[in-house]
Amino acid sequence: MTSTETSSAEKLQPVARPGVLDIAPYIGGESKVPGVNRVIRLASNEGALGPSPRALEAYKALAGEIHRYPDGGSAALRAALASRFGLEAERIVCSGGSDELITLLVRAYAGPGDEVLYSQHGFLMYPIAAKGVGATPVMAPEKNLTTDVDALLAAVTERTRLVFVANPNNPTGTYIPAAEMARLQAGLPAHVVLVIDAAYAEYVGQHDYEPGIELVRRTTNTVMTRTFSKIYALGGMRVGWAYCPDNIADVLNRLRNPFNVNAAGQAAAVAALEDADFAQRSRAHNDKWLPWTSEALTRLGLKLTPSVGNFVLAQFADDAGRNADAAWDYMKSRGILTRKMGAYGLPNALRITIGTGEEMKAVVEALSQFLSKS
Ligand SMILES: Cc1ncc(COP(=O)(O)O)c(C=O)c1O
Repeated sequence: MTSTETSSAEKLQPVARPGVLDIAPYIGGESKVPGVNRVIRLASNEGALGPSPRALEAYKALAGEIHRYPDGGSAALRAALASRFGLEAERIVCSGGSDELITLLVRAYAGPGDEVLYSQHGFLMYPIAAKGVGATPVMAPEKNLTTDVDALLAAVTERTRLVFVANPNNPTGTYIPAAEMARLQAGLPAHVVLVIDAAYAEYVGQHDYEPGIELVRRTTNTVMTRTFSKIYALGGMRVGWAYCPDNIADVLNRLRNPFNVNAAGQAAAVAALEDADFAQRSRAHNDKWLPWTSEALTRLGLKLTPSVGNFVLAQFADDAGRNADAAWDYMKSRGILTRKMGAYGLPNALRITIGTGEEMKAVVEALSQFLSKS
Protein backbone atom coordinates (compact mmCIF):
# COMPACT_ATOMS: atom_id res chain seq x y z
CA MET A 1 0.00 0.00 0.00
CA THR A 2 1.31 3.45 -0.84
CA SER A 3 1.12 6.16 1.78
CA THR A 4 -1.69 7.85 -0.20
CA GLU A 5 -3.66 4.60 -0.17
CA THR A 6 -3.07 4.21 3.57
CA SER A 7 -4.38 7.66 4.38
CA SER A 8 -7.47 7.24 2.21
CA ALA A 9 -8.06 3.82 3.85
CA GLU A 10 -7.85 5.56 7.23
CA LYS A 11 -10.41 8.07 6.08
CA LEU A 12 -12.76 5.21 5.25
CA GLN A 13 -12.94 3.94 8.80
CA PRO A 14 -16.38 3.94 10.43
CA VAL A 15 -17.35 7.28 11.89
CA ALA A 16 -19.56 7.50 14.97
CA ARG A 17 -22.67 9.64 14.78
CA PRO A 18 -22.33 13.36 15.55
CA GLY A 19 -22.08 13.94 19.28
CA VAL A 20 -20.60 10.57 20.23
CA LEU A 21 -16.98 11.71 20.12
CA ASP A 22 -17.93 14.76 22.23
CA ILE A 23 -18.66 12.44 25.12
CA ALA A 24 -16.06 12.39 27.87
CA PRO A 25 -16.43 8.75 28.97
CA TYR A 26 -17.92 8.33 32.45
CA ILE A 27 -15.19 7.44 34.89
CA GLY A 28 -16.40 5.50 37.93
CA GLY A 29 -14.88 5.80 41.39
CA GLU A 30 -11.53 4.09 41.96
CA SER A 31 -11.54 0.86 43.90
CA LYS A 32 -7.86 -0.11 44.35
CA VAL A 33 -4.79 1.46 45.93
CA PRO A 34 -1.51 -0.21 44.92
CA GLY A 35 0.22 -1.71 47.95
CA VAL A 36 -2.79 -1.32 50.24
CA ASN A 37 -4.73 -4.47 51.15
CA ARG A 38 -7.65 -3.01 53.04
CA VAL A 39 -8.94 -0.13 50.97
CA ILE A 40 -11.73 2.07 52.33
CA ARG A 41 -14.01 2.60 49.35
CA LEU A 42 -16.01 5.78 49.65
CA ALA A 43 -16.04 6.86 46.00
CA SER A 44 -19.26 5.40 44.58
CA ASN A 45 -22.06 5.86 47.16
CA GLU A 46 -22.47 2.12 47.63
CA GLY A 47 -24.57 1.12 50.67
CA ALA A 48 -22.41 1.18 53.83
CA LEU A 49 -23.57 -2.15 55.24
CA GLY A 50 -23.41 -4.09 51.99
CA PRO A 51 -26.41 -6.08 50.74
CA SER A 52 -29.01 -7.93 52.78
CA PRO A 53 -27.88 -11.50 53.60
CA ARG A 54 -31.16 -12.63 52.04
CA ALA A 55 -30.19 -10.95 48.75
CA LEU A 56 -26.85 -12.76 48.86
CA GLU A 57 -28.61 -16.08 49.44
CA ALA A 58 -30.98 -15.46 46.53
CA TYR A 59 -28.02 -14.60 44.31
CA LYS A 60 -26.15 -17.79 45.25
CA ALA A 61 -29.27 -19.91 44.86
CA LEU A 62 -29.33 -19.01 41.18
CA ALA A 63 -25.94 -20.51 40.40
CA GLY A 64 -27.42 -23.73 39.00
CA GLU A 65 -29.72 -21.84 36.66
CA ILE A 66 -27.38 -19.49 34.85
CA HIS A 67 -27.75 -21.32 31.55
CA ARG A 68 -31.39 -20.11 31.50
CA TYR A 69 -32.52 -16.79 30.16
CA PRO A 70 -34.04 -14.56 32.79
CA ASP A 71 -37.69 -13.52 32.82
CA GLY A 72 -37.62 -10.74 30.22
CA GLY A 73 -40.50 -8.94 31.90
CA SER A 74 -38.99 -9.03 35.43
CA ALA A 75 -42.49 -10.02 36.56
CA ALA A 76 -41.64 -11.14 40.11
CA LEU A 77 -39.56 -8.03 40.71
CA ARG A 78 -42.25 -5.72 39.36
CA ALA A 79 -44.84 -7.48 41.53
CA ALA A 80 -42.61 -7.09 44.59
CA LEU A 81 -42.04 -3.39 43.84
CA ALA A 82 -45.75 -2.85 43.21
CA SER A 83 -46.67 -4.40 46.54
CA ARG A 84 -43.88 -2.68 48.50
CA PHE A 85 -44.66 0.82 47.17
CA GLY A 86 -48.39 0.45 46.37
CA LEU A 87 -47.91 0.84 42.60
CA GLU A 88 -49.38 -0.72 39.46
CA ALA A 89 -46.96 -3.43 38.27
CA GLU A 90 -47.71 -2.72 34.59
CA ARG A 91 -46.39 0.82 34.99
CA ILE A 92 -43.04 -0.36 36.35
CA VAL A 93 -40.16 -0.96 33.93
CA CYS A 94 -37.06 -2.71 35.27
CA SER A 95 -33.62 -2.09 33.88
CA GLY A 96 -29.93 -2.91 34.07
CA GLY A 97 -29.28 -0.18 36.64
CA SER A 98 -31.05 3.16 36.46
CA ASP A 99 -28.30 4.34 34.08
CA GLU A 100 -30.02 2.21 31.46
CA LEU A 101 -33.29 4.06 32.02
CA ILE A 102 -31.55 7.40 31.50
CA THR A 103 -30.19 6.31 28.13
CA LEU A 104 -33.49 4.64 27.11
CA LEU A 105 -35.52 7.72 27.94
CA VAL A 106 -33.17 9.96 26.00
CA ARG A 107 -33.14 7.57 23.05
CA ALA A 108 -36.93 7.44 23.09
CA TYR A 109 -37.67 11.13 23.29
CA ALA A 110 -34.69 13.10 21.92
CA GLY A 111 -32.60 13.17 18.78
CA PRO A 112 -30.36 15.48 16.77
CA GLY A 113 -31.30 19.13 17.25
CA ASP A 114 -33.28 18.47 20.44
CA GLU A 115 -32.30 19.71 23.88
CA VAL A 116 -31.98 17.73 27.09
CA LEU A 117 -32.13 19.97 30.12
CA TYR A 118 -30.58 19.31 33.52
CA SER A 119 -29.35 21.12 36.56
CA GLN A 120 -25.81 22.57 36.74
CA HIS A 121 -24.29 19.95 39.03
CA GLY A 122 -26.65 17.19 37.97
CA PHE A 123 -25.63 13.56 37.46
CA LEU A 124 -23.10 13.19 34.60
CA MET A 125 -25.08 10.53 32.79
CA TYR A 126 -27.62 13.12 31.59
CA PRO A 127 -25.28 15.00 29.24
CA ILE A 128 -23.58 11.73 28.25
CA ALA A 129 -26.91 10.22 27.20
CA ALA A 130 -27.92 13.40 25.37
CA LYS A 131 -24.71 13.53 23.34
CA GLY A 132 -25.09 9.83 22.58
CA VAL A 133 -28.19 10.53 20.50
CA GLY A 134 -26.87 13.74 18.95
CA ALA A 135 -29.05 15.95 21.17
CA THR A 136 -27.73 19.03 22.93
CA PRO A 137 -27.30 18.91 26.69
CA VAL A 138 -28.37 22.20 28.28
CA MET A 139 -27.42 23.08 31.83
CA ALA A 140 -29.50 25.41 34.03
CA PRO A 141 -27.69 27.18 36.87
CA GLU A 142 -28.24 26.15 40.50
CA LYS A 143 -28.62 28.27 43.63
CA ASN A 144 -26.56 27.22 46.64
CA LEU A 145 -25.72 23.95 44.92
CA THR A 146 -29.44 23.15 44.76
CA THR A 147 -31.74 22.61 41.77
CA ASP A 148 -33.36 25.94 40.85
CA VAL A 149 -36.82 25.39 39.37
CA ASP A 150 -37.04 28.93 37.98
CA ALA A 151 -33.71 28.55 36.22
CA LEU A 152 -34.82 25.24 34.71
CA LEU A 153 -38.10 26.72 33.51
CA ALA A 154 -36.28 29.73 32.05
CA ALA A 155 -34.01 27.38 30.09
CA VAL A 156 -36.87 25.50 28.41
CA THR A 157 -37.08 26.20 24.66
CA GLU A 158 -39.19 24.79 21.88
CA ARG A 159 -36.44 22.22 21.37
CA THR A 160 -36.48 20.87 24.93
CA ARG A 161 -37.56 17.22 25.03
CA LEU A 162 -36.54 16.03 28.49
CA VAL A 163 -35.70 17.58 31.85
CA PHE A 164 -33.67 15.52 34.33
CA VAL A 165 -33.69 16.33 38.03
CA ALA A 166 -31.87 14.08 40.47
CA ASN A 167 -33.71 14.45 43.77
CA PRO A 168 -31.73 14.28 45.98
CA ASN A 169 -28.96 15.27 43.63
CA ASN A 170 -25.65 13.51 43.27
CA PRO A 171 -23.03 14.94 43.94
CA THR A 172 -24.39 17.89 45.90
CA GLY A 173 -26.65 15.90 48.26
CA THR A 174 -29.30 18.64 48.18
CA TYR A 175 -32.98 18.14 47.35
CA ILE A 176 -36.05 20.13 46.37
CA PRO A 177 -39.41 19.70 48.15
CA ALA A 178 -42.35 17.96 46.47
CA ALA A 179 -44.11 21.30 45.96
CA GLU A 180 -41.15 22.65 43.99
CA MET A 181 -41.05 19.55 41.80
CA ALA A 182 -44.78 19.92 41.15
CA ARG A 183 -44.21 23.57 40.22
CA LEU A 184 -41.54 22.48 37.74
CA GLN A 185 -43.86 19.90 36.19
CA ALA A 186 -46.71 22.40 35.97
CA GLY A 187 -44.47 24.88 34.15
CA LEU A 188 -43.30 22.41 31.47
CA PRO A 189 -45.03 21.98 28.13
CA ALA A 190 -47.00 18.71 28.16
CA HIS A 191 -44.76 17.06 25.56
CA VAL A 192 -41.59 17.53 27.64
CA VAL A 193 -40.68 14.48 29.76
CA LEU A 194 -39.75 15.25 33.37
CA VAL A 195 -37.44 12.55 34.75
CA ILE A 196 -37.17 12.52 38.52
CA ASP A 197 -34.08 10.50 39.31
CA ALA A 198 -34.66 9.36 42.88
CA ALA A 199 -31.64 7.05 43.24
CA TYR A 200 -31.18 8.16 46.87
CA ALA A 201 -34.87 8.43 47.85
CA GLU A 202 -34.67 5.73 50.53
CA TYR A 203 -32.25 7.85 52.58
CA VAL A 204 -34.42 10.95 52.74
CA GLY A 205 -36.47 11.64 55.88
CA GLN A 206 -37.51 15.24 55.21
CA HIS A 207 -41.28 15.70 55.49
CA ASP A 208 -41.58 17.94 52.44
CA TYR A 209 -39.85 15.34 50.22
CA GLU A 210 -41.62 12.94 47.87
CA PRO A 211 -39.69 10.70 45.48
CA GLY A 212 -41.97 11.36 42.52
CA ILE A 213 -44.69 8.71 42.79
CA GLU A 214 -47.46 11.25 43.33
CA LEU A 215 -46.45 13.30 40.31
CA VAL A 216 -46.14 10.23 38.06
CA ARG A 217 -49.66 9.19 39.14
CA ARG A 218 -51.32 12.40 38.10
CA THR A 219 -49.41 13.38 34.95
CA THR A 220 -48.60 11.83 31.59
CA ASN A 221 -45.11 13.27 31.25
CA THR A 222 -43.34 12.46 34.54
CA VAL A 223 -41.15 9.40 35.15
CA MET A 224 -39.48 8.42 38.42
CA THR A 225 -36.32 6.32 38.27
CA ARG A 226 -34.96 4.30 41.20
CA THR A 227 -32.07 1.95 41.83
CA PHE A 228 -31.01 -1.08 43.84
CA SER A 229 -27.41 0.19 43.82
CA LYS A 230 -27.60 2.51 46.82
CA ILE A 231 -29.50 1.60 50.01
CA TYR A 232 -29.99 -1.99 48.79
CA ALA A 233 -26.27 -2.16 47.98
CA LEU A 234 -26.60 -4.26 44.82
CA GLY A 235 -24.57 -2.03 42.49
CA GLY A 236 -22.72 -5.01 41.04
CA MET A 237 -26.02 -6.62 40.03
CA ARG A 238 -27.17 -3.63 37.95
CA VAL A 239 -30.86 -3.33 38.77
CA GLY A 240 -32.95 -0.19 38.43
CA TRP A 241 -36.62 0.52 37.85
CA ALA A 242 -38.90 3.26 36.64
CA TYR A 243 -42.46 4.11 37.60
CA CYS A 244 -44.10 5.63 34.53
CA PRO A 245 -47.37 6.77 33.04
CA ASP A 246 -48.78 4.02 30.76
CA ASN A 247 -47.64 5.82 27.61
CA ILE A 248 -44.01 6.02 28.73
CA ALA A 249 -43.93 2.45 30.12
CA ASP A 250 -45.12 1.29 26.70
CA VAL A 251 -42.34 3.23 24.94
CA LEU A 252 -39.61 1.92 27.27
CA ASN A 253 -40.82 -1.67 26.88
CA ARG A 254 -40.53 -1.38 23.11
CA LEU A 255 -37.01 0.03 23.27
CA ARG A 256 -35.32 -1.93 26.05
CA ASN A 257 -33.37 -5.10 25.41
CA PRO A 258 -35.61 -8.14 25.86
CA PHE A 259 -33.58 -9.59 28.77
CA ASN A 260 -32.23 -6.38 30.23
CA VAL A 261 -32.17 -7.48 33.89
CA ASN A 262 -30.14 -10.58 34.62
CA ALA A 263 -31.70 -13.45 36.58
CA ALA A 264 -29.47 -13.11 39.64
CA GLY A 265 -30.16 -9.38 39.78
CA GLN A 266 -33.92 -9.93 39.69
CA ALA A 267 -33.76 -12.57 42.44
CA ALA A 268 -31.41 -10.54 44.66
CA ALA A 269 -33.54 -7.42 44.25
CA VAL A 270 -36.75 -9.25 45.23
CA ALA A 271 -35.03 -10.68 48.32
CA ALA A 272 -33.58 -7.26 49.22
CA LEU A 273 -37.04 -5.70 49.05
CA GLU A 274 -38.47 -8.43 51.26
CA ASP A 275 -35.79 -7.80 53.90
CA ALA A 276 -37.35 -4.60 55.18
CA ASP A 277 -35.44 -4.87 58.49
CA PHE A 278 -32.12 -4.76 56.72
CA ALA A 279 -33.12 -1.71 54.66
CA GLN A 280 -34.29 -0.09 57.88
CA ARG A 281 -30.93 -0.80 59.54
CA SER A 282 -29.10 0.67 56.54
CA ARG A 283 -31.24 3.79 56.78
CA ALA A 284 -30.68 4.07 60.55
CA HIS A 285 -26.95 3.71 59.97
CA ASN A 286 -27.00 6.61 57.53
CA ASP A 287 -29.18 8.68 59.85
CA LYS A 288 -26.46 8.34 62.46
CA TRP A 289 -23.27 8.65 60.44
CA LEU A 290 -24.32 11.31 57.91
CA PRO A 291 -24.75 14.01 60.59
CA TRP A 292 -21.79 12.67 62.55
CA THR A 293 -19.52 12.98 59.50
CA SER A 294 -20.95 16.34 58.44
CA GLU A 295 -20.44 17.80 61.89
CA ALA A 296 -16.94 16.39 62.29
CA LEU A 297 -15.81 17.70 58.89
CA THR A 298 -17.40 21.10 59.54
CA ARG A 299 -15.50 21.28 62.83
CA LEU A 300 -12.31 20.73 60.83
CA GLY A 301 -13.12 23.91 58.89
CA LEU A 302 -14.45 22.32 55.68
CA LYS A 303 -17.56 23.66 53.99
CA LEU A 304 -20.29 21.05 53.62
CA THR A 305 -23.55 21.22 51.71
CA PRO A 306 -26.48 19.90 53.79
CA SER A 307 -26.79 16.40 52.31
CA VAL A 308 -29.81 14.11 52.51
CA GLY A 309 -28.13 11.26 50.60
CA ASN A 310 -25.55 8.69 51.69
CA PHE A 311 -22.64 10.99 50.95
CA VAL A 312 -21.30 14.43 51.74
CA LEU A 313 -19.78 17.06 49.48
CA ALA A 314 -16.87 18.74 51.24
CA GLN A 315 -15.34 21.91 49.84
CA PHE A 316 -11.68 22.66 50.36
CA ALA A 317 -9.54 25.80 50.18
CA ASP A 318 -8.07 26.99 46.87
CA ASP A 319 -4.40 27.00 47.78
CA ALA A 320 -2.12 24.24 46.57
CA GLY A 321 -1.31 21.84 49.37
CA ARG A 322 -4.70 22.38 51.04
CA ASN A 323 -7.00 21.91 48.06
CA ALA A 324 -9.26 18.99 47.15
CA ASP A 325 -6.65 17.31 44.93
CA ALA A 326 -4.09 17.36 47.73
CA ALA A 327 -6.66 16.03 50.21
CA TRP A 328 -7.65 13.26 47.78
CA ASP A 329 -3.97 12.25 47.35
CA TYR A 330 -3.41 12.33 51.09
CA MET A 331 -6.41 10.14 51.81
CA LYS A 332 -5.52 7.75 48.99
CA SER A 333 -2.02 7.35 50.44
CA ARG A 334 -3.80 6.13 53.58
CA GLY A 335 -5.99 3.71 51.63
CA ILE A 336 -9.10 5.92 51.61
CA LEU A 337 -10.76 6.46 48.22
CA THR A 338 -13.12 9.40 47.77
CA ARG A 339 -14.38 11.03 44.58
CA LYS A 340 -12.89 14.06 42.83
CA MET A 341 -15.52 16.45 41.51
CA GLY A 342 -13.78 18.25 38.63
CA ALA A 343 -16.07 16.58 36.08
CA TYR A 344 -19.04 18.13 37.91
CA GLY A 345 -17.56 21.65 37.80
CA LEU A 346 -16.61 21.44 41.47
CA PRO A 347 -12.82 21.09 41.34
CA ASN A 348 -12.41 22.16 44.96
CA ALA A 349 -14.74 19.57 46.39
CA LEU A 350 -14.58 15.90 47.23
CA ARG A 351 -17.58 13.63 47.53
CA ILE A 352 -17.29 11.19 50.39
CA THR A 353 -19.69 8.25 50.76
CA ILE A 354 -20.99 7.38 54.21
CA GLY A 355 -19.32 4.07 55.01
CA THR A 356 -19.13 2.13 58.27
CA GLY A 357 -18.58 4.00 61.54
CA GLU A 358 -14.96 2.87 61.59
CA GLU A 359 -14.46 4.12 58.02
CA MET A 360 -15.93 7.53 58.82
CA LYS A 361 -13.66 7.85 61.84
CA ALA A 362 -10.70 7.04 59.59
CA VAL A 363 -11.79 9.77 57.14
CA VAL A 364 -12.07 12.37 59.88
CA GLU A 365 -8.72 11.39 61.35
CA ALA A 366 -7.00 11.53 57.94
CA LEU A 367 -8.50 14.90 57.04
CA SER A 368 -7.70 16.28 60.46
CA GLN A 369 -4.04 15.33 59.95
CA PHE A 370 -4.07 16.63 56.38
CA LEU A 371 -5.46 20.00 57.39
CA SER A 372 -3.15 20.45 60.36
CA LYS A 373 -0.06 19.51 58.36
CA SER A 374 -0.66 21.77 55.35
C1 LIG B 1 -28.32 10.38 40.75
C2 LIG B 1 -27.96 9.04 40.22
N1 LIG B 1 -28.73 8.49 39.29
C3 LIG B 1 -28.47 7.29 38.76
C4 LIG B 1 -27.37 6.58 39.16
C5 LIG B 1 -27.10 5.27 38.49
O1 LIG B 1 -27.28 4.22 39.33
P1 LIG B 1 -27.41 2.73 38.79
O2 LIG B 1 -27.17 2.73 37.31
O3 LIG B 1 -26.38 1.97 39.53
O4 LIG B 1 -28.81 2.33 39.13
C6 LIG B 1 -26.51 7.11 40.13
C7 LIG B 1 -25.30 6.37 40.53
O5 LIG B 1 -24.41 6.86 41.17
C8 LIG B 1 -26.82 8.37 40.68
O6 LIG B 1 -26.03 8.93 41.59
